[in-house]
Amino acid sequence: MTHARNFVVAVSGASGVIYGVRLIAALLEQQMTVTTILSHAGVKVLAHEMGYDPETGFHPFLKEYGVNPELLSHLSVFSQEEIAAAPASGSFRHDGMVVVPCSMKTLAGAAAGYADNLITRACDVTLKERRKMILVPRETPMNLIHLENMVRLTRAGAVILPASPSFYSFPDTLDALVDTVVARIMDHLGVDQTRMPRWGE
Ligand SMILES: Cc1cc2nc3c(=O)[nH]c(=O)nc-3n(C[C@H](O)[C@H](O)[C@H](O)COP(=O)(O)O)c2cc1C
Repeated sequence: MTHARNFVVAVSGASGVIYGVRLIAALLEQQMTVTTILSHAGVKVLAHEMGYDPETGFHPFLKEYGVNPELLSHLSVFSQEEIAAAPASGSFRHDGMVVVPCSMKTLAGAAAGYADNLITRACDVTLKERRKMILVPRETPMNLIHLENMVRLTRAGAVILPASPSFYSFPDTLDALVDTVVARIMDHLGVDQTRMPRWGE
């Protein structure tokens, strides 16, 4: 089966790394190719919140999480310091980038065009190439600097899609609650999703 479209999913060091993990799993399940970038802080939060062991690696972690091992051949994983990796270049073709969860530091880097690691460089490139750029903050409350950075990114063409789960589908598990956000991200990427029923259907 061909994995037609390629998405970049960056996991930075904000709380809520499960949003990133479940998005990656959902995109792979929909036969998409995924290029993941993990920040150093993202790895720490993955370890803290989801028991991720960096020694074992991300592919085995996703397998353990329940992702079909056959789909994992469509996943590449880079660390933030791999600044020469494909997503650092505008010539790398992809169909959209998501930073999920997006820390306020990575948000600030993206808003300022301060491309000091592979995540912020890939954000900068995605925006300059006018590709779909989605940032998923979970910070609360927000200060004026956070809000102004979001305005700046919105003006530059990004979509700010806060990790604000919804309740009208009566999610009864943590995964179902997380998937209310994952489903909104997938809608914005134009990828079919079956994780959450649509209102009115
Ligand atoms: C368990 C944990 C949770 C964190 N949650 C957040 C958060 O929700 N939002 C945020 O902006 N930073 C959060 N931080 C702090 C960031 O990890 C820190 O600012 C880091 O420098 C971000 O780096 P990065 O953007 O390169 O991943 C958290 C850190 C830890 C250890």
